[in-house]
Amino acid sequence: MKMEDFGPVKEAPNNIFWHKGRISRHERECILGQKGIVLWFTGLSGSGKSTLANAVAEKLNAQGKLTYTLDGDNLRHGLNKDLGFTVAERMENIRRTGEVSRLLVDAGLIVLAAFISPLREDRAQLRQMLGRDYIEVYVDCDLAICEARDPKNLYRKARAGEIEEFTGISSPYEKPENPELIVHTDQESFEECVGKIISYLERYFEQG
Ligand code: ADX
Repeated sequence: MKMEDFGPVKEAPNNIFWHKGRISRHERECILGQKGIVLWFTGLSGSGKSTLANAVAEKLNAQGKLTYTLDGDNLRHGLNKDLGFTVAERMENIRRTGEVSRLLVDAGLIVLAAFISPLREDRAQLRQMLGRDYIEVYVDCDLAICEARDPKNLYRKARAGEIEEFTGISSPYEKPENPELIVHTDQESFEECVGKIISYLERYFEQG
């Protein structure tokens, strides 16, 4: 391959150029024998997003599919450890993670992203960024039930005023208006919720 094969050098805004790779997403997907997609789990803390995402990942992995789970709590230990919970920081958290999802889906992976992602505007941005690759799963669970579960003891701390801007208590959660899928972890069994997601994916992949 010669340098000229990269095409003539043109002007670019901000002097940043786009280098087109020679291997397409489709080729990567063919190697993996699957289609890349992002399942974006949104819901209150304690609604079951991460547990569901991990269970779905296990089922898909057992079917020979390559997945990657992006978890809000986990990413806040590294990539997003500079971010807190103000509206602006949550927006940046979702934007960054959306971009990471876009890369992983371009690599051909099935991405399972579990983030509270409480604001409609941020989720609308994800939909715009990821297009048809974005499947929104609303993990619906009554606040009182999440609070009763309180697996990380955070609702108790939020009620005691020890955590500021806690979603559902002192910071809003805007319910999704048109999610592709809703699971009710306070009404349906865990197995039912996982089954619903897997069936949705099977239909999605069949349609191609
Ligand atoms: S998001 O709102 O920006 O999407 P993200 O999913 O990354 O949130 O992180 C949420 C997790 O951070 C919660 O499950 C909880 O364990 C922890 N957390 C700590 N402080 C807060 C807070 N103020 N509001 C919500 N979650 C918090």
